[in-house]
Amino acid sequence: MRRNIVHEGSSQLTYEIREIVEIALQLEKFGIGITWENIGDPIQKGERLPDWIKDIVIRLASEDRTYGYVATRGIPETRVFLAEQVNRRSGCQVTADDIVFFNGLGDAVAKVFGFLKREARVIGPSPAYSTHSSAEAAHSGYEHLTYELDPQRNWMPDLEDLDNKVRYNDSIAGILLINPDNPTGTVYPRECLEKMVAIAKKHNVFLICDEIYAHIVYNGAKTVHLSEVIGTVPGLALRGISKEFPWPGSRCGWIEIFNQTRHPVFKKYIQSLVNAKMLEVCSTSLPQYAIPPVMGDPRYPVHLQHRSAMFEKRVNEAYEIFSKEEGIYVTRPQGAFYMSVLFDERRLNKNQTLPILNPDAKDFIESRAGNLEPDKRFAYYLLGAKGICVVPLTGFCCNRKGFRITLLESDDERRVRTWKTLVESIREYLSSG
Ligand SMILES: Cc1ncc(COP(=O)(O)O)c(C=O)c1O
Repeated sequence: MRRNIVHEGSSQLTYEIREIVEIALQLEKFGIGITWENIGDPIQKGERLPDWIKDIVIRLASEDRTYGYVATRGIPETRVFLAEQVNRRSGCQVTADDIVFFNGLGDAVAKVFGFLKREARVIGPSPAYSTHSSAEAAHSGYEHLTYELDPQRNWMPDLEDLDNKVRYNDSIAGILLINPDNPTGTVYPRECLEKMVAIAKKHNVFLICDEIYAHIVYNGAKTVHLSEVIGTVPGLALRGISKEFPWPGSRCGWIEIFNQTRHPVFKKYIQSLVNAKMLEVCSTSLPQYAIPPVMGDPRYPVHLQHRSAMFEKRVNEAYEIFSKEEGIYVTRPQGAFYMSVLFDERRLNKNQTLPILNPDAKDFIESRAGNLEPDKRFAYYLLGAKGICVVPLTGFCCNRKGFRITLLESDDERRVRTWKTLVESIREYLSSG
């Protein structure tokens, strides 16, 4: 072609959570049955929505109005409902104008980073959730900037590291956090959030807090929303129903905007997001209609409590199984539905393998395993030998070696069997090379 049409940031668009799927799909063709432990879709893993939520959606789907376009920012009544919820919870004063809907947070994230000035960077946690890190890196054309989450301190952010990085890199315009976190399952205490807000305030940068798992907390944790600590600092909270109803196929998420009227440049940036949305007319309408009747129903808090208790039971089960094993390290998650398993890196080398009985799968994995990061190598051998698909931690913008599991399998026996197989495989792998 006479012009190079490839965007400078294209090489940054990696999504390990999906890439490992390509390997697994190839193995499936060789006849290996796959246990999908790579993706955060509760529905795919057998969770059933309560009938009363489905009934609300069915009723809405029978009304003609729910098939039309809606306002670009989202349905006004729904935005008023959500703004009131924020204000009741946090005592702040957001209005319907501070709520903007997107086609899921995937869409929101693409626009939040895509419409930032190219030179303006957002620093995020490591390990990172790849949708954020890839979108930020692709927007800038450089690798994503990160601050460390410390596994020895329950994956709390290293605030000194963060403060220094923001202080000495004046291209940083924003700080990102995920609370509760994917992939570590950590929940940030109020004090930690207040310190992050103070860092943002000191350096005059904005905050982005992904709260998609805000209402999936357990083991004594309670989510403190960004709205409760943000004060006068400009910021965005990212919310959605993919994980919470759960309805990931609704492609419905929204941003809560804080303090746009105090910061003219921030306000102009927010307007650019709305203008971008205008080109698409609006976001999915039916799920927006469903939010007030579902979230406003007295059964909703009970539903959330029930789910939190369910994940608490599962996470504690997983913790019991993994924490006793030598050569790996886990912390007990308090939110979301993931757990990160870290290898003791002194125990990893380039000769370790698992026996793969299927000859095609063996050739396929062995031909690729040579130059892989050690945790990716384990994930590939695990796929070939046991058909379990986990995401290596190095796929999360992270130098630590490990992998992420999910707590989503709703068949109790199958879930525990998978974890026990994983632990046995780790033992076999670590003693193999
Ligand atoms: C932290 C985080 N944010 C956002 C998303 C995506 O949400 P949505 O389905 O609204 O695009 C996910 C999905 O796994 C996630 O883990």
